Amino acid sequence: MQEVEFELKKMIKDVGYDEVLSLFNTLEGGKRLRARLVLKIAKNHPKAPVLAAIVELIHAASLLHDDVIDEATTRRGKPSVNATEGSKTAIMLGDILYSKGFSELVEFDKQISKTISDAVTKLSIGEMLDVKLSENFNDDEKSYLDMLYLKTATLIEACAKSAAILVGLDQDRYALFGKNLGLSFQIIDDILDITSDEKTLGKPAMNDFVEGKTTLPYIYLYHNLPNDEQNRLKSLHKKILSKEDSNWIKENMQKYNTIQKSFLYAKKLSDEAKECVDDPDLHNILDKMLERNY
Ligand code: FPP
Ligand code: MG
Repeated sequence: MQEVEFELKKMIKDVGYDEVLSLFNTLEGGKRLRARLVLKIAKNHPKAPVLAAIVELIHAASLLHDDVIDEATTRRGKPSVNATEGSKTAIMLGDILYSKGFSELVEFDKQISKTISDAVTKLSIGEMLDVKLSENFNDDEKSYLDMLYLKTATLIEACAKSAAILVGLDQDRYALFGKNLGLSFQIIDDILDITSDEKTLGKPAMNDFVEGKTTLPYIYLYHNLPNDEQNRLKSLHKKILSKEDSNWIKENMQKYNTIQKSFLYAKKLSDEAKECVDDPDLHNILDKMLERNY
């Protein structure tokens, strides 16, 4: 991973504007899941750290823009760039990281650059769908999962696929592995939003519903509740929740096992990912992802 951090710094310095370097230095790296995946699949390939750094630049850009879109004031335990520097700076910094990632990406084989750039188009469509779905209370599981695939799983799928291409492994199997890992990862994220706390998460807890996101545990809850309580849940959508309301939601999620059900779904996807590749390191990434608490 040190090599990835080194490549990242090199790329940012290469941009040639100190302001960008100092802003980039304020960003917390996060879990670097995408980079780890590239390194584990394209083991020992000399270009793997560069490809890993590129996907982390693109991911960082997407989060900078996402925080503007979601009007989020914290990211990874720190004030977000839009909160400290304003939305204009956050958008432009995102644009710079994203473009730099692309100018590095064109140095790779066309199949790889196409895989990653197609994924970024899908990721952006996913974000649009997320905003659209969040306008109203969405109780449709399929639309939610389709959006999750585009918003989160496509880039992870592209990481696994392009790393496999780099070292001549079966790209379809690795792509499916990445897709299932990505979906499972985002469902765990949605669960943690409800079960974890702000300090551990590095962002406010129980915030998805406030942002309008009706994630899987909420969708399952809605379909289990009796009619009048369904209306109560709907009435809380996009509202700042009182302690009483968030407790009511959590108690009912417990009563109807909706967190457990969502976790089992994530576990099923993780098991399907395991079936795609026979690599203990990659199985370990899946296990850690399921067990994590942030
Ligand atoms: C986080 O979702 C957002 C994403 C994973 C994707 C965001 C994508 C874009 C803004 C498209 C633009 C892309 C580029 C490369 C500039 P979330 O809001 O559910 O998660 P969070 O709680 O971590 O904010
Ligand atoms: Mg967000």
